[in-house]
Order: sequence, then structure tokens, then C-alpha cells
Amino acid sequence: MNDQLETYQAHKQTGLLLNANEASENLPEELIGELQQMLPDLLFNRYPEDSSTNLRSQYAEHLGIPADMVIAGNGSDQMLQLLITSFVSKGDTLYTLAPDFSMYDFYVSAMKGKVKRYPLLISDENGFSINFDIEDFIAQAKEANPSLVMFSNPNNPTGMMITPEKVERIAAALYPVPVVMDEAYMDFGGRSAVELLLKPGLENLYITRTLSKAYALAGLRVGFLISNPENIRAIDPARPVYNLNSFSSAAACKVLEHADHFEERTRKILQERIRMQKAIKEMKNLCSLEANGNFILVYPNDPARNNRLKTIEKLVDLFMKNGITIRDYANKDYLRITVGLKQENDQVLELMKSFDQSMEGIV
Ligand SMILES: Cc1ncc(COP(=O)(O)O)c(C=O)c1O
Repeated sequence: MNDQLETYQAHKQTGLLLNANEASENLPEELIGELQQMLPDLLFNRYPEDSSTNLRSQYAEHLGIPADMVIAGNGSDQMLQLLITSFVSKGDTLYTLAPDFSMYDFYVSAMKGKVKRYPLLISDENGFSINFDIEDFIAQAKEANPSLVMFSNPNNPTGMMITPEKVERIAAALYPVPVVMDEAYMDFGGRSAVELLLKPGLENLYITRTLSKAYALAGLRVGFLISNPENIRAIDPARPVYNLNSFSSAAACKVLEHADHFEERTRKILQERIRMQKAIKEMKNLCSLEANGNFILVYPNDPARNNRLKTIEKLVDLFMKNGITIRDYANKDYLRITVGLKQENDQVLELMKSFDQSMEGIV
């Protein structure tokens, strides 16, 4: 056994769940009815069709690209694992951001590789700010001599997002090192880099997407890897056989048939995100970074890190006592809150407001 393996803590599943950036609402009843009608025709006794051909085609159509640019997987997580196991061997380096999605560390450590990071979140006299100087990022990435560059865009947990123009600059400058954009949160109003995938000089670009967030399908584990057809042909043989079960595959096709419904839900989440950020802006002691996903990073605007840590500890405790489950991080002076339904967000804001007011003169 590898006793150095980075562990990943599965999310808590009690309380008002605003900790895993899932959709707060289950699939609509009508759609669940359609899934039920599908069941009698499903061959539970047979292995799934190995390539999830229908789902690949349908997702490709959804993105407006050819089907041979897509692999479907058991969550985008499995697609990230496929990329890491393909490109990071023992002693190799993955270059990413600090902070970013912790599963990268888990898979890299399983390969006995190393992780180096560009410091994205900088603490300053107001608490935090985002530091992403693209030329500096490229220079530092080159210095790290990585075998793979991977980061989430929009970034989890900061919310920072870069444009396709910047993605193009990064992939071109780092060519031929593979560059992966993890676009798990791109459905929440961002501009995807998918349009770049067939551009000459960007053959090293890979993108991952998921149905777990904006498409409310986290429980069925459906994600995608997207790249140019040559890359897809090269990496597909490394995908575990039958990696996506028959039900998830068929259900994901149904969900994509109802994309309009989920786009409407997304619009509501975006309105709620604006409302929450506005409310937090009015608070005296708590701040948030600009959000681009379905979550908000919250931190105390105290210049002293010790005070920020104490404040976050108290705030986490208050959320817990009130049955609201948010994402906190060991020894970090910030927390992340998923943007939920209006009534859920009202509860969050009410608690934060009273905490903010009670902080006067305490910390
Ligand atoms: C940045 C990022 N990438 C990938 C994932 C994995 O998503 P899934 O495996 O559900 O597709 C998550 C999940 O929280 C995430 O935050």
C-alpha cells in the first residue's frame, strides 16, 4: 500500500447541503417519469455498450462538435484520473493552481508524481485577492517542467475564470505539454475553450466537463473528456472498459434532451449568485471573491490571518449549529458556499448577516 497517498474526504450528506456544489433540486418529476419508462427496455443482465456511443454523440451535438472529440466517463473525475494516469508517471510533475480541486493531488500521489502550484489566492491587507498574471503563470509553469498542466476554470474554490483567449495563450506557450481545462463549472455563465480544440498549434489542449453540477446528475456520475479526434483516439484505449453503466448513460441522454430546463435553472442560480454577492458586499466584516461558478468563496476582511482563522472557525460552527452544511478547509481562513435555491440562500444570508453584526468589536 502507498502510505503517502493523499486522501480525499467525501462530502458530508447531512443538513442543508451547500457543500458540494450540487444542484439543490432533484430532476423534475416529469423527467423522472421518463427515466422510469425507460427501465423495461434496459438490459440489466448485459454489460453496457463499451463506448457509450449514443451519449458521446448526444453530448457532442450539445456542444456543437463532432462525436469523435468526446469520451464519456464515470464522472469528470474519472476523466481527470485518465488524463493524470496517462501523463504523470513516477517523479513527474503536475502543474496546477493553489488552491484547486483536491482530487488532482489524490491521483498524482497514486502515480507517485509531484504537484507544483501557481499561487492564485494571495492574502493581503483586506483578506484575499486573486493573482493570475498570465505571463507569470506561463513562466512559472515552464520553470516547473511539468508533464501535465491542469486547473479548473472556473476555479474551485475561488471562482476565478479565464477567457478562451487566455487559455489559447497558455496552451500555445506550453506546447507540447498537455494542458487540461477542467470546466466542471463552465455551464454557469462562462465561455468554454471547446472552440479552440481544432486550432493548429493547440493539439495539446484537453477539456473535461460534467453533468453533476448544472445538469443535476451528480448521483449518476456522468462526465466527459473532450479534445481533438487524434488525442481522443490515443487516450481512449486507456479508459477502463465498461466505465459508464447502462442506466447512467441512457439517463444522461434523456437529461440532455431537456437541456432547456437546466438552462432555465442555471439562469435562476445566476440571479441568486448576484443577489448573494450583493448582500455579502454590504456586510462589514465578511467578503466574497467574484463568483463564476455555482458557489461563493467567503472570507473575513481582517488583515490578520490569526483573526481570520478564528472568525472562520466561529462561522463554520454557527452554520453547523444551524444545520447548514458548507465547505470548510483544514487550517484555511475561508469557506465555500454553494448557491442553492432562493429559500436556502435566504437562510445562509440571514445567518451571515447576524454573524457579521455580532462581530462588531469581538474579533
Ligand atoms: C473542479 C472540479 N472538477 C471536477 C469535479 C468532479 O465532478 P464529477 O466527477 O462529479 O463530474 C468537481 C466536483 O466537485 C470539481 O469541483
